[in-house]
Amino acid sequence: MSAAIEPFDAVDVIRIKRDKGAVPEDALRWMVDAYTREYVADSQMAAFAMAVLLNGMTREEIRVMTDAMIASGERMSFAGLGKPTVDKHSTGGVGDKITLPLAPLVASFGVAVPQLSGRGLGHTGGTLDKLESIPGWRAALSNDEIFEQLRGVGAVICAAGTGLAPADKRLYALRDVTGTVEAIPLIASSIMSKKIAEGTDALVLDVKFGGGAFMRDVDMARELARTMVALGTDSGVATTALLTDMNTPLGLTIGNANEVRESVEVLAGGGPADVVELTVALAREMLALAGHPDADVEKALRDGQAMDAWREMIRAQDGDPDAPLPTPRETHTVLAPASGVLTRLDALPFGVAAWRLGAGRARAQDPVIHSAGIDLHAKPGDEVRAGQPLFTLLAGDDNRFGRALDALEGAWEIGADAPASTPLVLERITA
Ligand code: URA
Repeated sequence: MSAAIEPFDAVDVIRIKRDKGAVPEDALRWMVDAYTREYVADSQMAAFAMAVLLNGMTREEIRVMTDAMIASGERMSFAGLGKPTVDKHSTGGVGDKITLPLAPLVASFGVAVPQLSGRGLGHTGGTLDKLESIPGWRAALSNDEIFEQLRGVGAVICAAGTGLAPADKRLYALRDVTGTVEAIPLIASSIMSKKIAEGTDALVLDVKFGGGAFMRDVDMARELARTMVALGTDSGVATTALLTDMNTPLGLTIGNANEVRESVEVLAGGGPADVVELTVALAREMLALAGHPDADVEKALRDGQAMDAWREMIRAQDGDPDAPLPTPRETHTVLAPASGVLTRLDALPFGVAAWRLGAGRARAQDPVIHSAGIDLHAKPGDEVRAGQPLFTLLAGDDNRFGRALDALEGAWEIGADAPASTPLVLERITA
């Protein structure tokens, strides 16, 4: 039997992008498909990805790239649910536990919220890792279980199956080791292929900028947000984005079990002001897209409506919402060396320190330590007195503290004057 004749040569596609041209639709679709079939080699796809990073893609090329990655796997559909579906995606940050209070809050208004999530890698934590701090809670659900839970409780946070956009899985792993992660067309098509394949009606993007974000530069974050909003809209998914500040960790906890505890505080009507502000802002966006522009989300946090949905959501996945969360064996508290105002507390080093304490993983197969992380006792703008606790490191083993403290060298500052206040939500981006 003779081998099938391939209609294109990878090297020709690479040359078009290298020479700043636009790759024709049929050639680009073939490139993605042939890479997924392992006909196009990693070396060729890496050269193509670098050419995209350097020379960009047109809006049409990004649309085709996204579509080709969707076509590489299964497409889910929630059409038979009888209620609107709306999802949220965050580009990732330090202390970003917003999905935990947000999904049940939005679902408590009769909207379905499918949050197919990942695990943490590097300094940003994973939603599933956080929820797995809850005794019994199960991340792996079948498609039927997801559907049933959306029909009943309305909110589901679970592991994304491997069937969604497998081309992206392969390409993302390649980009990770070839210095091509930061290409906006590739990030946008990677994120949006998974979200569109998931079959949600609407999507709100939390695109972060600043020192603890994937995109440090606000202009790059804005371009990424605009590109993703356009992609979603062109594919029939109602999409909006918020550009949000990730220079300082969100809330007062970085880790897993401690982030669950803080999320429950928000669901009980309390919690840190920045976590509440972002949860409320994203919930309003999601509910507006789902046809509830006047939903009183603050009331739902105050009166227990959102908490009831949380408890149901956790129980539906075999978790016990009343079980005690794991606590750390060892703690180490850092005290303020002088009195003044905390002027700076940088997200990235605090994320790295929490990761070194065991809250995150270096390799996909590593376990996380659910009780590890950092509890903050002050945030920038707070007055502190000499000797007052600034933050507490939490670990399973006290030999973790040294490297975590190394990461925190120069990561915070006490000064005389309060820092200028900056908005948490900088901009709203719509189609
Ligand atoms: N997250 C993704 O899923 N893909 C990227 O390319 C970057 C972040």
